[in-house]
Amino acid sequence: MNTIDTINKENLPKHLAIIMDGNGRWAKEKGKLRVFGHENGVTAVRQTVENCAKLQIKFLTLYAFSTENWNRPKIEVETLMRLLVSSLKKELKTLTKNNIRLNAIGNISSLPKKAHRELNEVISKTKENTGMTLTLALSYGAREEIKNAIQQIAVKVKNNIISPENIDETIINTHLYTHDMPDVDLLIRTSGEHRISNFLLWQIAYAELYFVNVFWPDFSELHLVEAITNYQNRERRFGKTSEQLK
Ligand code: IPE
Ligand code: IPE
Ligand code: MG
Repeated sequence: MNTIDTINKENLPKHLAIIMDGNGRWAKEKGKLRVFGHENGVTAVRQTVENCAKLQIKFLTLYAFSTENWNRPKIEVETLMRLLVSSLKKELKTLTKNNIRLNAIGNISSLPKKAHRELNEVISKTKENTGMTLTLALSYGAREEIKNAIQQIAVKVKNNIISPENIDETIINTHLYTHDMPDVDLLIRTSGEHRISNFLLWQIAYAELYFVNVFWPDFSELHLVEAITNYQNRERRFGKTSEQLK
């Protein structure tokens, strides 16, 4: 069987990002409420995080809640926030055991106080960990991220800290939430949808995209191994010809 132990450790994605989609449909298929899907999604998160840490992937970024997800029914938003708090409390041990540093991107201050506080606490308690950086995208929207970066740069231009001619990709990068991370190498989306849903638009410019037809709660070690093996067999040309890469 394909397991993370049998995976080729060379040519792993340095930055893996996942759009964890399909919790609601997973529950519906079983005749249950959407909440049940989210609860079971947490188990898939734990397994995936542990497997990526074992693989020594440097950066794992998980899309947990988008800016658009605020428009869901209040009861569902509340459940998701409650699950966030309880998982953060429960998983601190797992993070520490696996030497994982927690990070968050998005409009974090818009989260309910309790979630905000718990998140900051776990971030601070894991900040010395030197293994994988696990980033949760929470109240995250890529367009908002880019808009914020533009605003910050505009202020610096106005105050003569940056001149317009000097604005380059590096400067833009340093004003994004992801300023201390490399670009995404591999982006996985579960649930069979083929869209990006406002996730890391700038950072996926050259990412390899991988869509898998399982709902998030069913995403297992086997699916992770398949996605990574598929990635390892691709030729990333970055605009060059195949011959140039030889
Ligand atoms: C992903 O599952 C979790 C979040 C977006 C928070 P969904 O809740 O989107 O499940 P589907 O896509 O409706 O099945
Ligand atoms: C994307 O899933 C956001 C997260 C996984 C957190 P959605 O379920 O919100 O995406 P759409 O609405 O189907 O595009
Ligand atoms: Mg969805």
